[in-house]
Amino acid sequence: MTVTDAPAYDFDKPLSRRETGAIKWTMYDADVLPMWVADMDFESPRCIADAIARRAQDHSLFGYHFDHQPLRDLITARMAERYNWTIDPSHIVFLPSLVVGLNLVCQLYGGTRGHILTLAPIYPPFLSAPKNHRQRAVQVEALAVRDGADLRYEFDFAALEAAITPKTRVLMLCNPHNPVGRVFSRVELEQVAAMAERHNLTVISDEIHCDLILDPDQRHTPLASLSPEAAARTVTLMAPSKTFNVPGMGLGFAIVTDDALRKTMMTAMWSGTVAHSNVMGYVAAEAAYRGGQPWLDAALAYLRANRDAVTEYVRAELPGVAVTTPEATFLSWLDFRQTPLAADPYKLLLEKGRVALNNGKDFGKGGEGFARLNFATPRAALMDGLARIKRALTEG
Ligand SMILES: Cc1ncc(COP(=O)(O)O)c(C=O)c1O
Repeated sequence: MTVTDAPAYDFDKPLSRRETGAIKWTMYDADVLPMWVADMDFESPRCIADAIARRAQDHSLFGYHFDHQPLRDLITARMAERYNWTIDPSHIVFLPSLVVGLNLVCQLYGGTRGHILTLAPIYPPFLSAPKNHRQRAVQVEALAVRDGADLRYEFDFAALEAAITPKTRVLMLCNPHNPVGRVFSRVELEQVAAMAERHNLTVISDEIHCDLILDPDQRHTPLASLSPEAAARTVTLMAPSKTFNVPGMGLGFAIVTDDALRKTMMTAMWSGTVAHSNVMGYVAAEAAYRGGQPWLDAALAYLRANRDAVTEYVRAELPGVAVTTPEATFLSWLDFRQTPLAADPYKLLLEKGRVALNNGKDFGKGGEGFARLNFATPRAALMDGLARIKRALTEG
């Protein structure tokens, strides 16, 4: 008899999430396979559940918890190790959600009826945050390069610069980019920083996907790490939420090196319009950053293979469809414009394939005729989802 070790992490394990109330699984009818909102159908690293259980056992009271110095220190060390970026621990502002961070920056620095510039297609809250504050989300479409079934996006710097008006106050950057999966290079980021400097823009750099770099030869560069000048005008948003599959724990953070920017932000937060983070969020984040790396390495290998499975399937089985091969994130961006589903891919996939993707239209300019697929799911479910897309196309 051969004895084989059980795998340390079993990402193939099917999980039953519907009865936990997970929004991904309860939004649609039971026969619909959900491949939309960005959480993973994988158990988080065990060290997180253990830390939460230990905290609940050892201190079964859950009072206010407005700060957590060990987490500040861990984040500071992480920035130095991973990005050679020296930050001061006191420059970290804890947030219950990064979407709150996007909204706060618009509210505080976007100006009355100001213009907020962003590269589209884009994660929908980048478009709603300016609207929430009666500002204008100015969308500049990224350059899409399509080669057969392969799709890749680039900045359109000339168009971005041309879209800047005297009312433009804030540039919202998403890096790595949701939904197109790009990890922007240092050279591209230097151009972004120079443009912000020329036009005196505050930058929100949403880097929530920075730990989910799929190819080992690529690296994430925080915009604010480029120079003290870039840091002074940037609010960097990060979180353990996507990385370790803990978005329900409500803990993210901003790194704000400029004292005045940070002070305004803190004052607004203490005004009562922003909830504080919950105590278990701090516990989860600390545990994840201390002990989650082996899990993350294994998850990234699994996600990389899933990403490649999507690309290969699209090339071989879905005629007319084009897809990004994301450099980061667990999200593929699919172009259905040259297929029978072009009129409304989201609706037709749901109706004919019983598979729920995100609607490309919600991502602003350049989203019409597209849909976003979350491939952070066991391989068998992923292949089922792709087969459902094929069915919808065939029936379409
Ligand atoms: C770019 C980006 N920012 C923010 C979020 C959400 O952050 P939070 O759940 O902390 O509000 C997501 C979730 O998918 C995202 O992709």
